[in-house]
Amino acid sequence: MPIERNFPSPAPEPLPVLGVLISGRGSNLRAIIAAIADGRLQARIGVVIANRADAAGLAHAETAGVPALVVDHKAFATRADFEEALVARLVEARAEVVCLAGFMRILSPVFLERFGGPVLNVHPSLLPSFVGVDAQRQAWEHGVKVAGVTVHLVTPELDAGPIVAQATVPVLDDDTPDTLAARILVEEHRIYPEAVGLVAAGGWRIEGRRFVRGR
Ligand code: GAR
Repeated sequence: MPIERNFPSPAPEPLPVLGVLISGRGSNLRAIIAAIADGRLQARIGVVIANRADAAGLAHAETAGVPALVVDHKAFATRADFEEALVARLVEARAEVVCLAGFMRILSPVFLERFGGPVLNVHPSLLPSFVGVDAQRQAWEHGVKVAGVTVHLVTPELDAGPIVAQATVPVLDDDTPDTLAARILVEEHRIYPEAVGLVAAGGWRIEGRRFVRGR
């Protein structure tokens, strides 16, 4: 007679798990934490990783009781070694979606291939305009009348992956790069958690360069 044994099955992960990478202030991390706390974003942050020990955003993780750690890029001989270490920490935390939130290191194909899941970035311009650093100042100096924010999937090419969400803001005559950046940041905090939720929930596909909802 067969022996019946009941093994407790591993608890299913009820919510998609996020890994959030930061380098500095962490206001987008704080917006994600707030959206989760008030039920707008159905996800859980498995780990926050900063590449600098002095990243002020680490305090937001601590306040929220979210696991946080530092993986200092300067401690690694090569970019690939640094990225392998990042992926190892993300896998340990069971992260399924990575959110770059002011993470100021370029990620190479090593990271994207090893991690394998979707990696999102929030960029403070209406891509494809004004890639790279200081995008708000670039837009201000160019004299555009409409600026904004883009959330996109990360691909090996800088700031060039499929666009998940965008929002616009006006550029006013008396703006400075700082006042424009502040207006854009309000929209970052609004659309980034929304876009993270959309991607984490699944049910989307990429057609050519286009992010399309529906299977
Ligand atoms: C944000 O404005 C984000 O869009 C930008 O850095 C800032 C980080 O702020 N990211 C980039 O420019 C990426 N190319 P935060 O640390 O307060 O979230």
